[in-house]
Amino acid sequence: MSLLELIRRRRSIFPVQYSSDSIAPSDIEELLEAANWAPTHRKTEPWRFYVIQGEQRTALGAFLAAKYRETDPKASDFKAKKIQQKPEQSAAVIAIVMQRCPEESVPEWEEVAATAMAVQNLWLLATEKGLGGYWSSPGLKAYMSEFLEMNPGEKCLGFFYLGKFEGPAPEREPKPLAQKVVWVGKSS
Ligand SMILES: Cc1cc2nc3c(=O)[nH]c(=O)nc-3n(C[C@H](O)[C@H](O)[C@H](O)COP(=O)(O)O)c2cc1C
Repeated sequence: MSLLELIRRRRSIFPVQYSSDSIAPSDIEELLEAANWAPTHRKTEPWRFYVIQGEQRTALGAFLAAKYRETDPKASDFKAKKIQQKPEQSAAVIAIVMQRCPEESVPEWEEVAATAMAVQNLWLLATEKGLGGYWSSPGLKAYMSEFLEMNPGEKCLGFFYLGKFEGPAPEREPKPLAQKVVWVGKSS
C-alpha cells in the first residue's frame, strides 16, 4: 500500500466497534516508536504517552464517569455509562500528553502541533496494522492529573482509544482540496 493510500484509509474507529481481543505489547511499542519520530521544533520532543491497560482501563472508566457526574449538572446515566464503557471496550487507552518545555523555548502551540504529529504517526501505523483507533478529546481530560501521576508541565490533550477491529472502515471524503489551497505564482 502506498503512503498516500494508507493516509486515505486512516479512519476514526470507536471503542464500540472493537473486538475483545488484546493487542500484542510489541505492536503497541511499535506504535509508540512511530510516534517518537515526529518532527519537533528545537527538538523538544514534547509528546508523552501513558498507556493504560488491563484493570486500569476499568479504573479509568470509573474515574471519568464519576468526574462527568460531578462536573456536569445535566449528567445522564446513559452518557455516564458510555463514558465508563469506552476504556473497557478498548485493548488499551493511550493518554496523549504534551510536556511543555521548561525553558519555553518554543511557543506552546508548537508543542501541541508536534504532539499531534506524533499521534498521526501512531495512527497511520495502527491503520497499517489493521488496528482501530481514534483521538478523543473530552473536557474531562483536564482532570487526568488526578488519575495519572503526571509530571509538572504535562498537559493531557486527550485519549487514543485502541482496539482490534474487523473492517470495513467507514467511508469519508474530505471537502475538496480546491477550497483550501491557493496557488501563488506559477511553477517554471
Ligand atoms: C485533535 C483531535 C481531537 C478529536 N477529538 C474527538 C472527540 O473528542 N470525539 C470524537 O468523536 N472524535 C474526535 N476526533 C476525531 C474526529 O472526529 C475525526 O478525525 C473526524 O471526524 C474525521 O474522521 P476520520 O478520522 O475517520 O477521518 C478528534 C480528532 C482530532 C484530530
